[in-house]
Amino acid sequence: MQLKNKVAIVTGASSGIGKAIAILFAKQGAHVVIAARSADGKKVENEIRKMGGSAIFIKTDVTSNTSVKSMVAQALKTFKRIDILVNNAGIMLGGTAETTSEQTWDAVLDTNLKGTFLCSKHCLPHLKKTKNAAIINIASEWGLNGGQGYAAYCASKGGVVNLTRAMALDHAREGIRVNCIAPGPINTHMLTSAFKKDELKYIASLVPLGRIGTPEEVANVALFLASDLSSFVTGSIYSVDGGDMAGYYA
Ligand SMILES: NC(=O)c1ccc[n+]([C@@H]2O[C@H](COP(=O)([O-])OP(=O)(O)OC[C@H]3O[C@@H](n4cnc5c(N)ncnc54)[C@H](O)[C@@H]3O)[C@@H](O)[C@H]2O)c1
Repeated sequence: MQLKNKVAIVTGASSGIGKAIAILFAKQGAHVVIAARSADGKKVENEIRKMGGSAIFIKTDVTSNTSVKSMVAQALKTFKRIDILVNNAGIMLGGTAETTSEQTWDAVLDTNLKGTFLCSKHCLPHLKKTKNAAIINIASEWGLNGGQGYAAYCASKGGVVNLTRAMALDHAREGIRVNCIAPGPINTHMLTSAFKKDELKYIASLVPLGRIGTPEEVANVALFLASDLSSFVTGSIYSVDGGDMAGYYA
């Protein structure tokens, strides 16, 4: 029970990596806020409650200041404190700088980067009040190395990486640790909807460990960064990519 009685907000926790993090955190004793856009967040809440865990689904759009503000207020009303924030919600839309429309650029940047900023902004005043608070941002290996055909996504995730470093410095003396996970290819809807079966096979063959990762393998690293096991870790970027450091599969 690494997170006993801690309160954790996980954005985009209705599916994929966010769902795996929400379930693992609940198993480790946390009260989990599933801050998700999709109504499937309710299913994750039910799944956690069936396991004997504690969770609440709060419908949230991370691109909206009003929605995020209201989610944080509801989380506090329910659980009285916030110890952990996982900025996981994200979208991946394709295009080079030449072919990306302004609308696509704004949608990707608003969700991945502004969403991370807004959730952090509204949680920070409350994280300050708890001991050993932690923010975990989910970026991407493409935020470190770039990748082909996803210019807006790569830019947004690069922003998340450096926002992590800035927030880590700004809030270290307030006892808030801020770290980042940069996943490689992980078996979720985001990946399987972007690539065909044979492309996924090819991607897996390029990963040094020889396969695509699971959402649970990302969740395990998030647990380490959320818990006191990582009490002297802040401003760090953790690759969870099977050794696929070049991100060369597009
Ligand atoms: N799957 C991969 O290969 C991979 C690799 C690197 C990084 N990531 C990152 O991991 C994170 C989780 O993605 P995933 O792979 O689990 O895919 P996913 O599509 O299953 O999860 C993304 C979640 O974000 C939610 N979301 C999107 N826009 C939102 C908004 N405006 N407000 C609230 N929620 C919103 C979606 O509803 C969904 O539940 C993302 O940030 C993604 O960029 C994924």
